[in-house]
Amino acid sequence: MSEEFKAQQGWEILSTLNVHADHLFGAGAAHGGVHAPIHPSVQYGYERVEDLVAVFQGRAKNSCSYARQGAPTTAALEAKLTRLENGVGTVCFATGMAALSAVFLSLLRAGDHMVATRHLFGNTNSLLGTLEGLGVVIDKVDCGTAETVAGALRPNTRLVFVETIANPGTQIPDLEGIGALCRSRGLLFVVDNTNTSPALFRPGTVGAGLVVNSLTMNSALLVIASTFRLAGALG
Ligand SMILES: Cc1ncc(COP(=O)(O)O)c(C=O)c1O
Repeated sequence: MSEEFKAQQGWEILSTLNVHADHLFGAGAAHGGVHAPIHPSVQYGYERVEDLVAVFQGRAKNSCSYARQGAPTTAALEAKLTRLENGVGTVCFATGMAALSAVFLSLLRAGDHMVATRHLFGNTNSLLGTLEGLGVVIDKVDCGTAETVAGALRPNTRLVFVETIANPGTQIPDLEGIGALCRSRGLLFVVDNTNTSPALFRPGTVGAGLVVNSLTMNSALLVIASTFRLAGALG
């Protein structure tokens, strides 16, 4: 990779962000450490029941009740990814498919319509089949031009879904055009950024409201795998 390309992409800045995110933007690393420590606790204890109630009610910042719902180690990864994508928040799941399932199952109901790229990762395609079985109506189109997406929209369309570079076909959607279309129609634009990662492309720059990254795919170093990000377009 040439130095010019790296500079254009803000590569050095991204690397610096990546290295320093824990102590600059995360919950903080104790004893001046650059990286947050790993917290193995699943359960968290409090002296007073009122304190635990405050945690359950979401009133106690940076406090945990049970690791499935959030833990300091996950929070550090979430803070780092939010920064890398320049978003407003991140939720980590065990895998990319878990993140995609959470996005679609929480946002769509029977009778809702969604437009998806027809160039999809196989497991995502299977997930869309499951959603169709639940009554969600899905049109899969070639997203190479925003006009095709516009032609597939219906009054009950809730969201448009694409992959930045399709796996495995490598087709690239008209990200800018679809982002502008979604903005003009008030639709949520959901982008699976796995094959570019925020190192190469930030979907928030073209109007994506939710971004999914499978870290299983992109990094052998990370165990907690996938995120979705609520970006400005929703807020
Ligand atoms: C584009 C894309 N999205 C989602 C996934 C699913 O991610 P995971 O394997 O973490 O469930 C993959 C995995 O290959 C992928 O390539």
